[in-house]
Amino acid sequence: MLDVNAARKDFPILKREMAGGRPLVYLDNSATTQKPQQVIDAMSSYYRTSNSNVHRSAHTLAEEATIGFEESREKIRNWFGAGESRVVFTSGTTEAINLVAQSWAKVNLNEGDVVVLTEMEHHADIVPWQMLTSEIGVELRWVPFDLETFELDMGAYEVAVQGASLVGAVHTSNVLGVRNPVEQMVELAHQAGAKVLIDAAQAAPHDRIGFDSLGADFLALSAHKMGGPTGIGVLLINEVAFQQMQPFMGGGDMIREVHFDYSTYQENEHRFEAGTPRIAEAIGWGAAIDWLAKWNVESIHEHGLELARFTADSLRSIPGMRVFGRQADGDGAVVSFLHDTMHANDLAVMLDAQGFAVRTGHHCAQPLLRRFDIAATNRASFWLYNTLEEASAFVEATRDICQRYS
Ligand SMILES: Cc1ncc(COP(=O)(O)O)c(C=O)c1O
Repeated sequence: MLDVNAARKDFPILKREMAGGRPLVYLDNSATTQKPQQVIDAMSSYYRTSNSNVHRSAHTLAEEATIGFEESREKIRNWFGAGESRVVFTSGTTEAINLVAQSWAKVNLNEGDVVVLTEMEHHADIVPWQMLTSEIGVELRWVPFDLETFELDMGAYEVAVQGASLVGAVHTSNVLGVRNPVEQMVELAHQAGAKVLIDAAQAAPHDRIGFDSLGADFLALSAHKMGGPTGIGVLLINEVAFQQMQPFMGGGDMIREVHFDYSTYQENEHRFEAGTPRIAEAIGWGAAIDWLAKWNVESIHEHGLELARFTADSLRSIPGMRVFGRQADGDGAVVSFLHDTMHANDLAVMLDAQGFAVRTGHHCAQPLLRRFDIAATNRASFWLYNTLEEASAFVEATRDICQRYS
């Protein structure tokens, strides 16, 4: 059992009072999670005691910074089961996916080669591929999902991967919370000779993904969705794919030698990390992983799903309310909903006035929303510090607003 009250104590922001002295009820965890004191302390301690650049100088501070930075890389490698693979720091999931597009796909694909995407993708896994259609003429194939069950059409997927070079698939949808059958998707793609990139931004906070055992070629995620700081993420890359990549950003730290007429590059992960990296952020992320390791990730998952199920079922009982998602066993703790007469933004503003923070809009997944013929939803998303009392208060506030104003 997850000790939610003990977890809450580590998050100073949860003590914040909102308008009218109401407590903050933070239900926007899919956008970003709050940070435990341990992460804030680790970053502040680095700046107070060891601030220096990494991989460069021989002085004590530089050595401490380098050790802290590289230790975090190893923590991330261990946490995500990537012992056989490469861990390249990026600014987040978005940059990680762009790195695959620019450093792998642009180097290895040609005009007419096929990239398969699902209709559930976040814009971060759509726009880089559209850019590549104009740059080198790759063709995009879309795998639909069922509007009633919210499940990917695996029959269509199996057809789409034939002759494809790459699949880009979201592990867990940030709008629907649906966890896709990524194991089966990797297997089918590999049988067809395609590489696979998994967008694990929403899976990372509640799922111990084992990258090597999953067998995907690339996996992208962000620290800020799992208690870590903003501005940092990783691309995990298997060795074969890593050897097929060429850097698209040049500069300091990624080189071995630079001459007036040519340069040679590092052979390890630094090859793709040009310039001064995000040192405090890496150290903060390492602290977030140490902190998460205190909890049982399966319990975090079960707890979030319990809150999501309660919320989805309760919202469905509000007249005129539509809930998008199924809250099945492996799914994320996400509930997207839309009232048929109440504007999503108006509802969010009224909820905010009572201390409830929910996301509103297209969730960076406009094509997905268009499949439902809608432009926006409200979204409540949970993490380990949310309580059933918060979920219940949120549902009652939503019910009350809808009754009064719709
Ligand atoms: C499924 C998914 N993919 C990609 C991203 C982009 O992550 P970031 O903005 O941290 O790069 C997000 C962020 O919400 C997401 O939910």
